[in-house]
Amino acid sequence: MKKKIITIIGARPQIIKSSAISRAVKNEFNEQLEEIIVHSGQHYDASMSSIFLEEMSIPQPKYNLGVGSGSHGAQTGKMLEGLERIFLDEKPDAVLVYGDTNSTIAGALAAAKIRIPVVHVEAGLRSFNKSMPEELNRVACDHMSTLLFTPTETGITNLKKEGFAIENVNKASADNPKVYHCGDIMFDNSLYFSDVSAKKSEILKAHNLTTNDYVLMTVHRDSNTDVKENMESIFQSVVDLSSKYNLPFVLPLHPRTKGKLETQLSSELYQKVMDSNKVQIIEPVGFLDIIALEKNARMIVTDSGGLQKESFFFEKPCVILRPQTEWIEIVNNGNALLADADRVRINEAFDALYLKTDYTYPSFYGDGKAAEFICQKIVNEL
Ligand code: UD1
Ligand code: UDP
Repeated sequence: MKKKIITIIGARPQIIKSSAISRAVKNEFNEQLEEIIVHSGQHYDASMSSIFLEEMSIPQPKYNLGVGSGSHGAQTGKMLEGLERIFLDEKPDAVLVYGDTNSTIAGALAAAKIRIPVVHVEAGLRSFNKSMPEELNRVACDHMSTLLFTPTETGITNLKKEGFAIENVNKASADNPKVYHCGDIMFDNSLYFSDVSAKKSEILKAHNLTTNDYVLMTVHRDSNTDVKENMESIFQSVVDLSSKYNLPFVLPLHPRTKGKLETQLSSELYQKVMDSNKVQIIEPVGFLDIIALEKNARMIVTDSGGLQKESFFFEKPCVILRPQTEWIEIVNNGNALLADADRVRINEAFDALYLKTDYTYPSFYGDGKAAEFICQKIVNEL
């Protein structure tokens, strides 16, 4: 009999991530697994949600809770209530959650409380900064999961320190969780969609961009958007660097950031950014377009977890607008620099990475087959 898994999606990165598992279920595990997608509705703009379902061939969600935006408690609470109802009706063999968002913790908690095994993809990552909502979500989620899949060796090390028995050979359960290092499903997706993007994306032409002659930048972390000084420093650096290097900065801006530009920046800086012919603020783009933007950029500047790694996949230096990162390998290997939201550090990091030439790209993120590995373990272990 097929095992029924419910996959929880909600925020942009997990919608994108889910495509790798859905593809593996469809192509290789169709006889063993049935997948039902549940969308929490955390992200709802077409450019943050439906565009990915369409262009990445993700099956239409059977349910969409439509919770929308809200405070952490309100948003997570609505999800918990809706998800529990669905889980009780559908009686899945497992609930699969990705990453570290409010949709992740809601899916894990609702399932674990009614004794449905939780599968956590992207387990074991830590920033060791509990002021990040994502750190709370990921630590809690790991500790209620039955199967944990880490994208990196660092993930295994972190879980070992928290008491997980990595060599566990007994049957997996919530009290006896099993941990596997499987590589990063986003590496699977980036490999898979790279050629499709090369064939289909027109984004460079649409914005008059030339290969290796612009910087791709994204900002959306609450610690950056919600603190005036941080937004000011970051955008001051955009003005400094775009003018110093005579390079266009392209910013597909998350709605959270877009909504705060005018209120968080001084009116003088806001005007400078808006008037600059080197700063292009555009709507968030689809995955095929972001890959094209990543592959052709001279450098990437970001506070996004996803973009940090994709900069490595596509061999671009990356300035990270955060004080620490869960993807520490790329910093330790010299591919990226942590610059926080500090104008001086951002400018210095950019200068250093711009000049550096001896980059290397070891295979930190697996072999592009993480999704198949995860499906096989679900079939064997649950
Ligand atoms: C969430 C995740 C974060 C992840 C990010 C990916 C949590 C706690 N945070 O942050 O880890 O990196 O998604 O993008 O789960 N908004 C819209 N339209 C949308 C979605 C959001 O306008 O479709 C605006 C709303 O003003 C909303 C704000 O963005 O209040 C923040 O959205 P929310 O989902 O709460 O958090 P993100 O910052 O997106
Ligand atoms: N992304 C996208 N379009 C954009 C910006 C980002 O498709 O305009 C993709 C990006 O390539 C990555 C994912 O969204 O795969 C990352 O999501 P986000 O930055 O929202 O969240 P994080 O990874 O920080 O949680």
